[in-house]
Amino acid sequence: MDSPPVTWMFVLVVIGLIGGEMGGVKASKSCRFPAIYNFGDSNSDTGGSSSAFNETASPNGMTFFRKPSARLCDGRLIIDFIAENLKLPFLNAYLDSIGTSYRHGANFAVAGSSVLEDGGYSPFHLDYQVLQFIQFKKRTTALYNQLTNNGKKKISPCNRNLPLPNDFSKALYTVDIGQNDLSYGLKNYPGKLQEIIPVIITTFVQAIHKLYKEGARFFWVHNTGPLGCLPFYLHNLTANSGNLLDQSGCVKPTNEIAQEYNRQLKDRVSQLKANLSDATFTYVDVYSAKYALISNAKNLGFDDIKKSYDSQCGKTEIVNGRVLGKCNDPSELISWDSVHYSEAANLLLSKQIINGSLSHPHVSIAEACHKLP
Ligand SMILES: *[C@@H]1O[C@H](CO)[C@@H](O)[C@H](O)[C@H]1NC(C)=O
Ligand SMILES: *[C@@H]1O[C@H](CO)[C@@H](O)[C@H](O)[C@H]1NC(C)=O
Ligand SMILES: *[C@@H]1O[C@H](CO)[C@@H](O)[C@H](O)[C@H]1NC(C)=O
Ligand SMILES: *[C@@H]1O[C@H](CO)[C@@H](O)[C@H](O)[C@H]1NC(C)=O
Repeated sequence: MDSPPVTWMFVLVVIGLIGGEMGGVKASKSCRFPAIYNFGDSNSDTGGSSSAFNETASPNGMTFFRKPSARLCDGRLIIDFIAENLKLPFLNAYLDSIGTSYRHGANFAVAGSSVLEDGGYSPFHLDYQVLQFIQFKKRTTALYNQLTNNGKKKISPCNRNLPLPNDFSKALYTVDIGQNDLSYGLKNYPGKLQEIIPVIITTFVQAIHKLYKEGARFFWVHNTGPLGCLPFYLHNLTANSGNLLDQSGCVKPTNEIAQEYNRQLKDRVSQLKANLSDATFTYVDVYSAKYALISNAKNLGFDDIKKSYDSQCGKTEIVNGRVLGKCNDPSELISWDSVHYSEAANLLLSKQIINGSLSHPHVSIAEACHKLP
């Protein structure tokens, strides 16, 4: 070993580079997404419903924002933790006209929204959200070009809340929707949902195609959670329907519907990968993360989800004319208001969602621009 050390250094660096390539995507290969465009329902609504209809009430927001923050949660949602992880600001809602910035993306999600036009509890079904995105892109691009004289001069500081036109093709497109189609379907056409699921999925895929046509290339798709574990569903079961419950105390037939939806969604996302080969698609198994959390609540330091219905933490109570939350400490609850998850639960779920352990392919969100088998 009498070669000069510098040669060895060089060899080691080269081996390191080759190893990095062969070992797949490494943490250093961050995509540096400049923006996030999100589509969905209350699971990721950071202001759409509040702006379109009425503001969310206290005690929503009590844990993190210390005031109602247009989210149905005591604090941050999974999409907020995603934004934090990508070092981007929290997403402003497209529908919000007050004090907003869209430099790093926009949120089209509205609570109650469904994939199908008549499948949920909000007029802003997925097609509408995509239409709004198309309009957003077209009009902000035209305005940007006008303000910069088609790129010949710099944008002035007071217009820095506009998205950069070139960022649309570099942004991450996140989608988390379908839960309302299932809950609405279970209530309004029970027994027919099996027939409807393929229609929901086809509509979903068409929406992705429209985004692709607009230049979207990096997609991050969440599947739907275990609907049958939500206290809202558990509460209405009568004592003698115990045989409908699984070993974790969730309503089995309801969860089977969600699983069927997810199975078909996963299939179609794989097809999309093949059909739109210059785009990346990450399918994220949020169902498994939520189900594992509910099944292992005790070991993870949470209360049994069934207790959440009684505590109704996210509901308000008026005492001597003052609006109060019904609990002081939601940090041990999985369910905030019997439908939506608490910030503590969202934080735990986000860790697994973000690091890619639940994704197909296994890729962390910061690296989701890389094409993997
Ligand atoms: C709108 O929200 C505010 C604050 O939560 C509440 O006081 C009011 O009753 C709501 N109005 C309607 C029409 O729901
Ligand atoms: C449960 O019952 C309440 C009324 O008791 C009703 O408002 C709610 O829609 C029911 N939930 C489901 C999932 O059917
Ligand atoms: C997508 O690919 C599948 C097969 O993977 C094929 O059956 C289908 O026709 C393709 N659809 C489009 C729109 O290209
Ligand atoms: C991802 O995060 C979860 C939760 O923190 C952890 O259990 C798991 O080991 C992590 N997986 C990877 C691949 O980093």
